[in-house]
Amino acid sequence: MRAEVAVMTEEKLDIRSLERAGQILQKGGLVAFPTETVYGLGGNALDPEASRKIYGAKGRPSDNPLIIHIAEMEALKRIVKSVPEKAQILAEQCWPGPLTMIFEKAECVPCETTGGLSSVAVRMPGNKIALELIRQAGGYVAAPSANTSGRPSPTLAAHVIEDLGDKIEMIIDGGMTDIGLESTIVDFTEEIPTILRPGYLNQQMLSQIIGEVRIDPGILAADSQTRPKAPGMRYKHYAPKADLMVVEGKMEAVVQEINRLSKLRAAEGKRVGIICTDETYDRYEQGIKKSIGTRTSEESIAMHLYQVLRAFDEEEVDEIYSEAFDTPRMGQAIMNRLLKAAGHEIIEA
Ligand code: TXA
Ligand code: MG
Repeated sequence: MRAEVAVMTEEKLDIRSLERAGQILQKGGLVAFPTETVYGLGGNALDPEASRKIYGAKGRPSDNPLIIHIAEMEALKRIVKSVPEKAQILAEQCWPGPLTMIFEKAECVPCETTGGLSSVAVRMPGNKIALELIRQAGGYVAAPSANTSGRPSPTLAAHVIEDLGDKIEMIIDGGMTDIGLESTIVDFTEEIPTILRPGYLNQQMLSQIIGEVRIDPGILAADSQTRPKAPGMRYKHYAPKADLMVVEGKMEAVVQEINRLSKLRAAEGKRVGIICTDETYDRYEQGIKKSIGTRTSEESIAMHLYQVLRAFDEEEVDEIYSEAFDTPRMGQAIMNRLLKAAGHEIIEA
């Protein structure tokens, strides 16, 4: 199978292609589509067979649950047991947007979609292509990130084609995704709403709307004793082919340390990759350098993180050194993904 690729923008939807994509989903097939976070691999969420196909195409363990994407607020009530008041408020303020909420599931949601759990994750994505596709598909689209399990999430249709181009029916190319990191997940089955995965919406922004919000201790811990609650956060999400190390400290010290280490490795005959920023790019004397964005914009760093990690898989490097990004707002989300990719290997400069 070779996926049909339909190119469009949010400003100019190609309704005929979206109708066709909706029909593929209604018949149990798979369609990848852009959201504002990353590309998703969609299947009909209420069809257990479609969920099985999703796990198969991604090579994903079947105990790692999928997020159900909806396009209308009314759709939420049909797939969950009840909606707590605070969740209702968050939905009204943040949807469509990069927020996933977890509830007790209703009967109609198959266990295949929830990885066997009695809870279900739901999100209304903030992308017009995604919303129209969900409507055309009948309202409930299960969609994990559209990457092969263990690779960085796709922020471009080209990444989806690379990983899944011969495994699914259709790919909708809506250009580069806006945010570039997966949605914030908030668990409402806990007494106090709990962040299971950090994202663009951070703890402070959420608690300004609904009061106390906790962070799952499992996602901050570097040790393996504290297990994250979201099954997907337990896996070493993505390991680059080369060893990745994150260098922390004052900017000047970080640059010096990375330069020192790269020289050492080069002398050993190793090829080194460096993940830096526009501000520091010219300061590195050797190695294959890639700027992730500018330190003046957290958005640019988030947007390019997965793309840069993927690009290094194409390069023949033995080791990658990355600057740390202590970006105040999205920093937690960015460092969470980067440290997972690095297997929590940190060097203090
Ligand atoms: O931004 C996003 O959320 C993207 C786009 C495509 O919408 N989707 C995405 O899906 O990141 P995925 O499958 O790659 O990640 C879903 C995460 C996993 O870590 C999974 O374990 C967790 O959500 N999850 C899903 N349902 C859950 C549940 N009922 N309880 C706990 N964790 C859950
Ligand atoms: Mg994923």
